[in-house]
Amino acid sequence: MPSNHTSMGVTFIGCGAAVPETIVSNDDLAEVVDTSDEWISSRTGIRQRHLCHDRESLAGLATQAAQQALAMAGVAAVDVDLIVLATSSAEDLFGSACQIQARLGATKAVAFDLTAACSGFLFGVVTAAQFLRSGVYRNVLVIGADLLSRWVDWSDRNTCVLFGDGAGAVLMQGSGDGDRLLGFEIKSDGTQNACLNLAFKPELRELLPGAILTQGKYHYITMNGKEVYRFAINRVPDAIDKVIHQAQLTSTDIDWLILHQANQRIMDAVAERLHISAKKVISNVAKYGNTSAASIPIALNEAVRSGKIKPGDTIATSGFGAGLSWGAAILKWGK
Ligand code: UT7
Repeated sequence: MPSNHTSMGVTFIGCGAAVPETIVSNDDLAEVVDTSDEWISSRTGIRQRHLCHDRESLAGLATQAAQQALAMAGVAAVDVDLIVLATSSAEDLFGSACQIQARLGATKAVAFDLTAACSGFLFGVVTAAQFLRSGVYRNVLVIGADLLSRWVDWSDRNTCVLFGDGAGAVLMQGSGDGDRLLGFEIKSDGTQNACLNLAFKPELRELLPGAILTQGKYHYITMNGKEVYRFAINRVPDAIDKVIHQAQLTSTDIDWLILHQANQRIMDAVAERLHISAKKVISNVAKYGNTSAASIPIALNEAVRSGKIKPGDTIATSGFGAGLSWGAAILKWGK
């Protein structure tokens, strides 16, 4: 039974990440579509991406990332109360989170998927925080995992060069000793929904006279890149500004900026608008491309494990993408 303490805070005490083995460079992609390393790297900063092969799976990568996060946090799988899997590419439309629960042996945990595209990890963190702050749960795994290579049209150079596959995870723990989630904002604007979709494509089937059903498949990813770019460079700085203010900080108090890794130009523009030095921007988009819900925890994990991010550091983070949706949070790393 959940306990019911109040006035609990949130801490971020473990992280992990896993990416597929296969690396595909920009030059490799130039053999598939009419593109070049020069175009991709100058427009996006991406140089390569990891793509999933048939022996790898979303649940497998997500489980590896989660195991690393648990090990860093020193929390046993059986002590996890909740698993939130942020994904838009579940292997089962009924949800993939329970497969991860089983693989981890997190027997006590309730597990569910959360779909908010590239904002999914941030939305997951905010969702988890509500359960932790209310005291209902103590240990929550938030996983961001996506295999968008399965849903990209590999003949569409506008989108196929952008995405990569991967998974990242954090272990969030309730704490009676302060709250390390200093501010957050999550937003949606469905009026711009048509800018970025992975939509169901119905095919009509007459089951009985007069009973026409729609059965079909999911369409490939479609995106209006320019609109999404414009949206990101406008909305993201505003959202971060707001949460910095909410946390009663100024931009000089931010040690690290971790944005959704979609495009280096977006990261540079946002940092500039916020007057945050380029040295504080965590970026690995060159190595992984846009891994959707996984991009923030993969970047966080690399920065923590390389010793860049240290306990007590203040991180501003922001996710944005399909929905359209976006959000930002300020957090302090560690206990
Ligand atoms: O995670 C979800 C969030 N998604 C994003 O954040 C994506 C945001 N958008 C972007 O990052 C950029 O808009 C892109 C990287 C997608 C595109 O960059 P752009 O500078 O906006 O390029 P564009 O779409 O205006 O295309 C410029 C030209 C076009 O040719 P014309 O019409 O000017 O002759 C495209 O056909 O570049 C062409 N092009 C390419 N050329 C070589 C588009 N894709 C490619 C390609 N290789 N892969």
